[in-house]
Amino acid sequence: MRILILSRNKALYSTQSLIRASEKRGHQVQVYDHLMCNIVVECNRSKVMIGIDDLENYDAIIPRIGASATQYGAAIVRQLELTGSFVTVTAESLLKARDKLHCLQLLAAAGIDVPKTGISAGDYCIPAVHDRISDNRSVIKLIASTQGLGVILSNSRNQGISIVEGFHRVGQDVLIQEFIEDAGGADIRAFVVNGRVVAAMKRQAIPGEFRSNIHRGASAEPIRLSAVEERIAVQSTAILGLSIAGVDILRSKRGPLVLEVNASPGLEGIEGSTGVDVAGQIIEFIENMI
Ligand SMILES: Nc1ncnc2c1ncn2[C@@H]1O[C@H](COP(=O)(O)OP(=O)(O)O)[C@@H](O)[C@H]1O
Ligand SMILES: [Mg+2]
Repeated sequence: MRILILSRNKALYSTQSLIRASEKRGHQVQVYDHLMCNIVVECNRSKVMIGIDDLENYDAIIPRIGASATQYGAAIVRQLELTGSFVTVTAESLLKARDKLHCLQLLAAAGIDVPKTGISAGDYCIPAVHDRISDNRSVIKLIASTQGLGVILSNSRNQGISIVEGFHRVGQDVLIQEFIEDAGGADIRAFVVNGRVVAAMKRQAIPGEFRSNIHRGASAEPIRLSAVEERIAVQSTAILGLSIAGVDILRSKRGPLVLEVNASPGLEGIEGSTGVDVAGQIIEFIENMI
């Protein structure tokens, strides 16, 4: 097969791991930066270009679109889909997952338990929305944060309201979310490929920190999921239309809560902590789809 990986940086662990897994299985693999891709739209002849040349045909495309280029990256993926390429994530699913509110709206509507989450456009209503979520601590977060950047723990109702007001002053919508204290600064990342959890890790935040992102210094260890956790992880990917995803789950007293679904999940933490060849599973999935 000829496989194209869209990635900003060929040297990134995830990209390298996918290259190694592809080559190990005898496939040809090419990496292009999606920000070096151009699109020309015209009736029945739309094209994606790489630099000044037309992009050649590939059997499969693995988009690794980070948060810095979501919209543009999604446009490139959409064009590739429209021209008949097999992509491991569609533009539509990528956009749904990247928007934390959209993702939670869909999960909650489908009966998946999530932390209670609100949004308010007007300053006037912030207290009323906050009160529906919590009378004390809350988490205020950017709709498109990644790596825990833009996720803030507020220690009181007044603090929460003032943080949201502050964001509104700079034209930024934010989510007000129930703080799941029982999670104890930990979360679970379930890596799903084609409707099956292929690896799972527990991430524990450093002392004094509630965000368990690896990029924020958290440690990771392999973990066995309960049957319920496994089921909701797989269901969540199906709801978002994702074949490959990292589902983040908080363990709470009322059961597992899905926090978010990552459409471009990193491989370093999960492969490093569990020893599972996740990239190999992804390539195997593509082989079965082509
Ligand atoms: N409502 C919450 N209650 C408890 N912990 C939370 C909550 N929201 C986020 N966290 C912690 O912060 C981390 C980052 O939040 P998340 O919503 O996943 O944003 P990001 O996309 O930036 O990773 C989570 O992995 C979790 O450890
Ligand atoms: Mg996260």
